[in-house]
Amino acid sequence: MTSIRPTKNLDDVLELMSTEHQQLSETIARIKSAIDSQDLSVVRRELLRLQSSEQAHFRHEEEVMEYYDYPDIASHKDIHKVMADILSNINRNVVIDKLHNISDDLGVYLERALRQILEHDNDLRDFVMELRKDTS
Ligand SMILES: [Fe+2]
Ligand SMILES: [Fe+2]
Repeated sequence: MTSIRPTKNLDDVLELMSTEHQQLSETIARIKSAIDSQDLSVVRRELLRLQSSEQAHFRHEEEVMEYYDYPDIASHKDIHKVMADILSNINRNVVIDKLHNISDDLGVYLERALRQILEHDNDLRDFVMELRKDTS
C-alpha cells in the first residue's frame, strides 16, 4: 500500500486516501465472497490483510492530521482505535482460535463499519480540500 505521508501536494494526499479506501473496501468484498463460499483459509488471509492495510491507512491519515493541525484529530483517532480493536478481536477469534463457524454477518458487519469510519473521513477530506484551495 502506498504511503500518504504528509506532502505539500494536497492532491496526492486526497488521491492516496481514496486509493487506500478503495483497497480496504475491495478486501472486505473478498472477505464477503470467501464467507459465502465458506473458504476459511481465504477469509483468514484476507482478514489479516485487512488488519495490516487498515493499520497502515490509519497511520497515514493520522500523520496527515498531525502535520496539518486537523482540529478533530482526537476524536478521529478514537474512531480509528475503536475500529482497530474490533478488527483485532475478530482476528483473534477467527485467525488465532481458528473458529470454524464464521457468521454470515461478519462481511456485512465489516462493510457497515467501513462505511461508518469513511463518513468521518469525509470531514478530513473536506478539510484537506479547503487547505488546497487556500494554498493554490
Ligand atoms: Fe480513512
Ligand atoms: Fe479515518
